[in-house]
Amino acid sequence: MSDPFLHNLLSIEDLGEEGIAKVIALADVFAEVNKRAIPKVPALRGKTVALAFFEDSTRTRLSFETAARRLSADTITLGKTGSSLNKGESIRDTVRTLEAIGADCLVIRHPCAGVPEQVARWTNISVVNAGDGWHEHPTQALIDCYTLVNMRRLGWPEEDVTGNSRTSESLGSQGESPSPREHAPEELPLRGIKIGIVGDIKHSRVARSDSIAFSRLGAQVVLVSTPPLLPTSLSFWPVEVVHDLDSVIGDLDVLYLLRIQTERGGGRVIPTLREYSLLYALNSSRRALLPRHALIMHPGPVNRGVEVSYDLVDAPSSLVLKQVANGVPIRMAVLYMLLAASGGLQLDSDASLSTAMTHVETGEWMAYSEDTEHRSSGSSTPSVSGQAGERAGV
Ligand code: CP
Repeated sequence: MSDPFLHNLLSIEDLGEEGIAKVIALADVFAEVNKRAIPKVPALRGKTVALAFFEDSTRTRLSFETAARRLSADTITLGKTGSSLNKGESIRDTVRTLEAIGADCLVIRHPCAGVPEQVARWTNISVVNAGDGWHEHPTQALIDCYTLVNMRRLGWPEEDVTGNSRTSESLGSQGESPSPREHAPEELPLRGIKIGIVGDIKHSRVARSDSIAFSRLGAQVVLVSTPPLLPTSLSFWPVEVVHDLDSVIGDLDVLYLLRIQTERGGGRVIPTLREYSLLYALNSSRRALLPRHALIMHPGPVNRGVEVSYDLVDAPSSLVLKQVANGVPIRMAVLYMLLAASGGLQLDSDASLSTAMTHVETGEWMAYSEDTEHRSSGSSTPSVSGQAGERAGV
């Protein structure tokens, strides 16, 4: 992670391998909190998270809202309707209004690529990109990495964690022997895993953020689609490209499906959805080609019957709802990192993580370093050991 005092999360590139690992470590803390009878901690008491969603969302908006509330932050929401944007107010003035009302963080989704980055130039509060056009969806990439890292911790792909064991006869329809892949989980958590991202790559912010994040964690990423649904240039993407799903499916550990983004024109560049489904959808005959240990992922929303047949969304090897569930601890980790940790805690040491855990539970900062003091400013006066955590607004 280039800057341990992360202020915004605009792109998955803001984190790097080390930053992703730190978010995952914090998500583990919050996953434990979420299992409690009362899944709430005082970590962000006094903070206000603004949720500005100028494009439809179910998972991202609701899990950010849940995450903020479980951290004891207040939330204010703004949608594409019902705001003074419809009276001609600019996004800039809207954001400055949210800041004036007292927001500490702005979680923003917008149909245009680059809006969160531009907004971050106009405001001093933290900005989180919750999806901008075709560009990026960094928290979805964090969720997907976390979901796969958790599967790996359970022993996948060697162990049977989905009801489908990895046996020689299960590796594809060709009856090939297992081809053991080199992996050293202690080095990079997804090393040795081959992930095929299939579908409307061109219009998918998830494909871009996931390709970067999966590669950073050591996975091999293959993009599978028809040329009209691929970006014009992929030279900066750390991926291979394949057009024929059936030629590669038997070698995948993860089949990551994407929907056709009709609202961005994805449906207009292919002859029919039926033809697309014939070539790229996961159906029962294609499921037979997929190694039995392979996992099925999808960021949602799923268009059942288009990119995946109705029943396979609910197959034992489908992680779709696990991805949704992991959205809450991951987004708690991101909000915590930006609002509590960025001003007062370097997340590049185990000692800092342990201090964070104390703070999560008590709302009190138990220690701070000279460097922390140097980096803090304004009302974020660092508290000293034993004092209540002013930094967290407690
Ligand atoms: N994955 C995702 O971003 O879903 P929503 O559009 O429902 O937020």
